[in-house]
Amino acid sequence: MEQQLFDYTKQDAAGACSTAHAWAKVPAPLTTSERHALAERAAALLKKHNAVLVAHYYVDGPLQDLALATGGIVSDSLEMARFGRDHAAQTLVVAGVRFMGETAKILSPEKRVLMPDLDATCSLDLGCPADDFARFCDAHPDRQVVVYANTSAAVKARADWMVTSSCALEIVSDLHAKGQKILWAPDRHLGRYIQEQTGADMLMWNGACIVHDEFRGLELEILREQHPGALVLVHPESPKSVVEQADVVGSTSALIKAVVEGNAPAYIVATDNGILHRMRQLAPGKVLIEAPTAGNSATCKSCAHCPWMAMNGLANLVDCLESGQPEIHVDEATRVKAQHCINRMLDFTAARKAQTSGMTPGIGAA
Ligand code: 13P
Ligand code: SF4
Repeated sequence: MEQQLFDYTKQDAAGACSTAHAWAKVPAPLTTSERHALAERAAALLKKHNAVLVAHYYVDGPLQDLALATGGIVSDSLEMARFGRDHAAQTLVVAGVRFMGETAKILSPEKRVLMPDLDATCSLDLGCPADDFARFCDAHPDRQVVVYANTSAAVKARADWMVTSSCALEIVSDLHAKGQKILWAPDRHLGRYIQEQTGADMLMWNGACIVHDEFRGLELEILREQHPGALVLVHPESPKSVVEQADVVGSTSALIKAVVEGNAPAYIVATDNGILHRMRQLAPGKVLIEAPTAGNSATCKSCAHCPWMAMNGLANLVDCLESGQPEIHVDEATRVKAQHCINRMLDFTAARKAQTSGMTPGIGAA
């Protein structure tokens, strides 16, 4: 099986989008009264502007609560895309990272898409520049180009398919069954997992998520010994040594579903710890344990929390609703091309859902 690692250094040469830059822009903690006042102000502004808040499970708990309290959504990246496309609101406020805002804009060009901070990016997106990626694709014209959602609009414009972690396995499996060879980008861990599960011929880009890449198999083994019977829940952006120990491998929604429906005494969670907020709400009383990472606060890059997700706060949310800035723009030629691969994914998942409806209800079913 052909599998080539593309050597690319993740960090921007100027350091402009480094994790240090992101951590420096993470809003300071709020007092309880500040939090309440800002949440109230944001709710009023959402109403005034006919806007809806579309949040990811990794953002701060108060933002997640606000989204749910005001008729918005907290979800995985696939559901965020669907919700934004289908909602009647003329303004979408995306609390997450830039590719999520771009996807919303690509699917709904007539809507205004705001984000609290446009510097909120993703190491997978940073690690896959469109020009380099185009050269990679040009060199392998015989392959179907499948890209993860965590990429720029320009990268998506080169792709045949976009996937998220909730539907990647099914889509690649289907392509493989049809005899297609695949060019996969950018997450090497998710790509390897899918390659192992499906047996597909996949040529890989060499990108990684700085949060999941830091989970460690050896430390996880030790933790499991300390908590016999605990169910191990792993996001597939994690390294092989961690995925191999998983009881459940899946998207953020699938991991939440596993906690809600599981009857284990405890759950070890190997994904961004922002997800624990929603898990605690949906499965009160269940014991949730964070999976171990490569270091502690002095040595790890993320400490199991995405610095770009952490840049979203109530204060910059209020600012963006008041000023209408920053707004996501995607140039029309890129948008039209990028829309194609996203719509293919949405059509595929909708067709699968129709086929299996009544069989796999619940959180996270694609
Ligand atoms: P999900 O699609 O599983 O929510 O993942 C998005 C993401 O950025 C994970 O790091
Ligand atoms: Fe990207 Fe990882 Fe952050 Fe998700 S958690 S947005 S994959 S850096």
